[in-house]
Amino acid sequence: MEAKVLQIDNLHASIDGKEILKGVTLTIRQGEVHALMGPNGSGKSTLSYALMGHPNYEVTEGTATIDGQDILTLEADERAKAGLFLAFQYPTSIPGVTVANFLRHAVSNVRNPDRKEGEDLIPMRDFRKELREQMDELGMDTEFARRYLNEGFSGGEKKRAEVLQLAMLRPAFAILDETDSGLDIDAVRVVSEGVNRVASKIGTGVLVITHYKRILEYIKPQFVHILLGGRIVESGGPELVDKLEAEGYDWIREKHPEAAKDEDELEAKEKAGQFA
Ligand SMILES: Nc1ncnc2c1ncn2[C@@H]1O[C@H](COP(=O)(O)OP(=O)(O)OP(=O)(O)O)[C@@H](O)[C@H]1O
Ligand SMILES: [Mg+2]
Repeated sequence: MEAKVLQIDNLHASIDGKEILKGVTLTIRQGEVHALMGPNGSGKSTLSYALMGHPNYEVTEGTATIDGQDILTLEADERAKAGLFLAFQYPTSIPGVTVANFLRHAVSNVRNPDRKEGEDLIPMRDFRKELREQMDELGMDTEFARRYLNEGFSGGEKKRAEVLQLAMLRPAFAILDETDSGLDIDAVRVVSEGVNRVASKIGTGVLVITHYKRILEYIKPQFVHILLGGRIVESGGPELVDKLEAEGYDWIREKHPEAAKDEDELEAKEKAGQFA
């Protein structure tokens, strides 16, 4: 299969009329691993929400395509069918819907893009078998599949549930927004190995959003990008991660005063309550 390309060009996005992303350009090919780092509030989650089509995030300029197909005009579920997957920083719970039920529907929709609501789901027997295998590999108790999605899940369980979705949906591109946050040391390894297994099996292009080096020791990025004030100001290899760990973000701000100024302005506005 041809490697697909996710191409983001000069993407601008706003929330409540306030511009957060100010021209993000990024190309991810299937099989590549990219890391996206940057200070709190720099727009990392905004980028993932804008790409997934969250209604609060308005794209005002720029493009995002998969193999040339504009994804920004698609509904969120159509973006998933086009091969995009987002593991949320803060997954929401869906009371009344079990993990298994949710996944069976999601998997049926993504694997059979022409499926209409109410039409056949993938056969229970096949689904169960696959789910059990994936849960085994992620070290999850099968009992877990009977629980309501994210309801009362511990931080670590939520993250595992996200990676289970990834493993079942097998997307061409996966954005993992702080999948390492709240995980204990062993869980970071287990979850990372899960991501690597999926990525190597199907050649998923991965964008790992993180603040810390630890997860990147397991999910090894070839490319590292730094977001500041809503744009990517630095791109490089894994050595960038070491430099950030050692020196923090001040050198980045000094090197990119325009972006640092935008960061300050956004913070000031927030303090002034203009986001109400
Ligand atoms: N729904 C929202 N309403 C108002 N402001 C928002 C909303 N979502 C994001 N913002 C603002 O947009 C800016 C970027 O937020 P975003 O969540 O993208 O940052 P981030 O880089 O993911 O930060 P972190 O590292 O803390 O997760 C912040 O100033 C944030 O307060
Ligand atoms: Mg975030």
